[in-house]
Formats: sequence, structure tokens, C-alpha cells
Amino acid sequence: MEHRPLGKSGLLVSDLCLGTMVFGEENPRGTDQRSATHIIQKFLDAGGNYIDTANVYAGGRSEEIVGAAIKDRRDRVILATKVRHATGQNLNDQGLSRYHMIRSVEASLRRLQTDVIDLLIAHAWDPLTPLEETLRAFDDLVASGKVRYIGVSNFKAWQLMKALALSDAHGWSRFIAAQYQYSLLERNIEHEISELCLHEGLGLTPWGPLGGGFLSGKYHPGDKPQEGRLAMMPDETEESWLRRSRERNWAILQVVDEVARSHQATHSQVALAWLLHQPAVCAVIIGARTLAQLDDNLAAGHLSLSEEELARLSQASEPDDPYPYRFLKLYGSRDPNPEV
Ligand SMILES: NC(=O)c1ccc[n+]([C@@H]2O[C@H](COP(=O)([O-])OP(=O)(O)OC[C@H]3O[C@@H](n4cnc5c(N)ncnc54)[C@H](OP(=O)(O)O)[C@@H]3O)[C@@H](O)[C@H]2O)c1
Repeated sequence: MEHRPLGKSGLLVSDLCLGTMVFGEENPRGTDQRSATHIIQKFLDAGGNYIDTANVYAGGRSEEIVGAAIKDRRDRVILATKVRHATGQNLNDQGLSRYHMIRSVEASLRRLQTDVIDLLIAHAWDPLTPLEETLRAFDDLVASGKVRYIGVSNFKAWQLMKALALSDAHGWSRFIAAQYQYSLLERNIEHEISELCLHEGLGLTPWGPLGGGFLSGKYHPGDKPQEGRLAMMPDETEESWLRRSRERNWAILQVVDEVARSHQATHSQVALAWLLHQPAVCAVIIGARTLAQLDDNLAAGHLSLSEEELARLSQASEPDDPYPYRFLKLYGSRDPNPEV
């Protein structure tokens, strides 16, 4: 695996990060402790050092599983977890208040069996808490030694830019990483967020890189999904399946299929390799429910796509340009050396 600095920092992370959202889930889309431990060990043996979890994944079980699996190799893991979503029934068991952030970090440290979180991520915007309170609490957590670096996820561009400006103005710790949904199916962050990451020195770490499994090529037009995450939990899934099963997405998958065939690679490897070639991307968070999926996804790191193949994939998956992006594409450029 290649290792890259995470944003504008000196922290080196593997370009594939192991996502652990389904570890400890009891429904069929989850991974039990034994298999999850094998997946983690294999990922580390393959040279990966970056693992992503969250305080809320499987009600805290994901953190427990990760903590137990890396206990003997803690020093070679860059461990990321998150705070924001509800961890209990009490009023203050959620959000980005100083109160909840500190309590959540203490609980994460216990579950992870460690005394420091390498990267603490704000899982989403909190409309209630003043941003200054959140950023100051992040800074205090870093100063206390419980957290080493901080990151952000799912903020709108203006929210993220405001947070960075406030951190700079106060000399507080600054986000070095940004976690956003990004894949050949979902490229809307290219309108604002990926450029913002490049300009502001945040390492972009895409989640959902296979569109929940759609881009693995195991689903077919017209079929109702029979296996995997997209076939489970009928109510929620009906909506996520209809969102994915669209003509545009099947056309993208067709191009993925053609590129995969010419490399004797899998669909997943092509979809992940395309992401690894995107300029703002630092590390792609792979979700593997089984060891076989991990093996498949790890091989994406060895797949080199030509300029022509990257262009075909990008063209097939080009997002629409809503206002003002289309307007700016048409009228927003300036020739620095006009002839008259
Ligand atoms: N910050 C956030 O808000 C946020 C949100 C979501 C996720 N995340 C992080 O990002 C990680 C990855 O996200 P994701 O799980 O949505 O990623 P994804 O790659 O889009 O979907 C992963 C799912 O696809 C299927 N899959 C994976 N590899 C496969 C392969 N080679 N062949 C066939 N099927 C395959 C598996 O589900 P089935 O086997 O059930 O089909 C797997 O659980 C998570 O673990 C979590 O750490 C963060």
C-alpha cells in the first residue's frame, strides 16, 4: 500500500483506510467479532495503518472489536473515531457540545482500550452548539493528549470553511482530514468540497466508495437485490435501492465493466482505483464485510488506470451542474494574457 500525508500534516496514512461500520452489527449485513478480527489483522499485514470507526457504529461494538484486535499492535495504527450522533437516551448524549464531546471521547477510549485517539472526527454539523464551543473543545482535547488530530465529516462547504477560519483566528487545532461520500455514483462534493480540501490542506477520505456495494457489479438491472446490504432491511433498502437502480448508474457500471475486463480486474477494484486517482483524495475508506471482499478491495491499490480509462469513467459519471456551477463554467474563467 502507498502511504500519503493526511492533509497538511506530517501524519502518514495508507491510501486505503479500513472502514468498520458493519463490524459488530447483528443483522446479516454485519461482521461478527471473529471475522472482523481476521479482517483487521489481514489489513495490517498488508501494510494498511489507517482504521476508521465511530462511537455509534453497532452501538459501540465496532470500537470494542477494533480496540481488542489492535491491542498488541496499537503503535502502528492510526486510529480514527467520531463524535456527534446520539449514544444514549439523555438530552445531552449527542451533538458537538463540550459536554458530549468530552464524555464521548472518554467512552471511546475505554471501548478502544487505548489512551489516545489519533484522529477525532466531527461526524456531522450540530445546528445547536455554537461552532466556537465545538472547536475550543476539540482544541482542549488535543491539548489534554486524549486526541492527536481532528477531522470533519458531512459539513456543508460554508460550515467547513467557517470552522477553518475560526480555528485559524483563535490559533486552535485545525481539521486535517475530511470524510465525505464520494464514488463514481456520487460526485456532488466536486462542486465545492474537494476543491476546498485541496486549497485548505485537508486530506479527503471518501466513504461509500462502492455505493454500498452497487459498484461491485453484483447487482443487475431489473433484478431486485437478493444479497448484500442493498437487499436487507426492506423499508430502508427500498429507498436506497431505488436511489441506485437508475439508468445513469447502470450506464456507469457498464463502463466500469469494460475497464475491468481489459485489466482482468474486478468492478470494485476499478471503482476504488478511479477514486485513488482523484486529486483531492488522500485515502479511500474501504468497507469490507468479509475477508474475500477485503482481498478484492486491497488489490485496487495495484491497479493503474490510463488517462484514457480515467477520462471514460469520469465522463460516464459526470454530475449535473446546478446553478451557479454551470454559469461559472461558462463565464467564470479569465484569460490572464488577453490579446487586447
Ligand atoms: N462519515 C460518515 O458519515 C460515514 C458514512 C458511512 C460510512 N463511513 C465509513 O466508510 C466506510 C465505508 O463505507 P461503506 O460501507 O458505505 O462503503 P461501500 O464500499 O460503499 O460499501 C461497503 C459494502 O459493500 C459491499 N462490498 C464491499 N466490498 C465488496 C466487494 N469487493 N464485492 C462485493 N461487495 C462488496 C459490502 O456489503 P454487502 O456484502 O452487504 O453487500 C460492504 O459492507 C464505513 O465502514 C465507515 O467506516 C462513514
